[in-house]
Amino acid sequence: MRPLKNGERIHLVDKKGRQYALNLKAGAVFQWSGQTIPHDELIGKPDGSLVTLSGGKRMLVCLPTLGEYVLKMPRGAQVLYPKDLALMTMWADIYPGAHVFEAGTGSGALTMTLARAVGPMGRVVTYEAREDFSRTAMQNIERGMGATATNVVMCRRDAYAGIDVLDDHPWFDRLVLDLPEPWRVVPHAASVLRSGGIYLSFVPTVPQVMQTVEALEQAKVFGPIQSFESLLRTWNIQGRSVRPDHRMVAHSGFLTVARKVEPGLWTGAAPAGGLDEDRDESDDRRSGDAGDAP
Ligand SMILES: C[S@@+](CC[C@H](N)C(=O)[O-])C[C@H]1O[C@@H](n2cnc3c(N)ncnc32)[C@H](O)[C@@H]1O
Repeated sequence: MRPLKNGERIHLVDKKGRQYALNLKAGAVFQWSGQTIPHDELIGKPDGSLVTLSGGKRMLVCLPTLGEYVLKMPRGAQVLYPKDLALMTMWADIYPGAHVFEAGTGSGALTMTLARAVGPMGRVVTYEAREDFSRTAMQNIERGMGATATNVVMCRRDAYAGIDVLDDHPWFDRLVLDLPEPWRVVPHAASVLRSGGIYLSFVPTVPQVMQTVEALEQAKVFGPIQSFESLLRTWNIQGRSVRPDHRMVAHSGFLTVARKVEPGLWTGAAPAGGLDEDRDESDDRRSGDAGDAP
């Protein structure tokens, strides 16, 4: 059993799945639409308990997952959606012990995701241009990660102006960017990423992704370069009412991924047909690419 503690950030969840975030404080009272519950009734309850508000409304009281936490935490900049955070972690291949460079920190959602994946033996160095965003992010990270946030090095710095490696570690294994002009960071990435290291950036628009790929190609030390987006469609499954939900986040952004490599195999872009060298026309037909497939 994991009892909820005074000072912790918790979520109350109603029957429709709506979440309400609060910081537990002895003596305080949570209010929802005229109904109340004292925090003292929540403190000490096991994570995942059912509680009843003064007017009879029942809610679950839970410690939020990281994905739930980032969607409800105070924001400076727009945070990345959990669907993109999950993909970024896998495609950038963030592993325990990795040294990761990140920019911009924004509200700290990606920073926390990276910090959790690199663990106590790894490090996340993150640059944020704006002082106010930096402060909000630090508060979010400290509240969300507590004592484990010691692997985050937060810098109020302009990533376009350059990237400094740490004295005790003269390269980065991974570089992950969520800022408006990632192509301006590509020349710095080429010098601070170790050979075999991974570059990943996230941008919302087509001109941005085009400019990013051009910069990676011109740097000559990145390949294969891949860009893609992810669409997550949730489904309603209730008895015989089984159908896609009416609403979805149709577009969030494009991810671009590349490895730092010795130049020579490709001019820059990924080989024709993507990365699967064994793929042939029949594979395309099976996946529905060929319009006139039998
Ligand atoms: C979309 S937000 C990042 C959100 C963050 N990934 C998150 O999930 O919380 C982009 C951030 O990049 C910062 N930024 C823009 N240009 C920058 C630069 N040259 N160097 C560092 N940060 C920069 C902005 O201030 C902003 O906070």
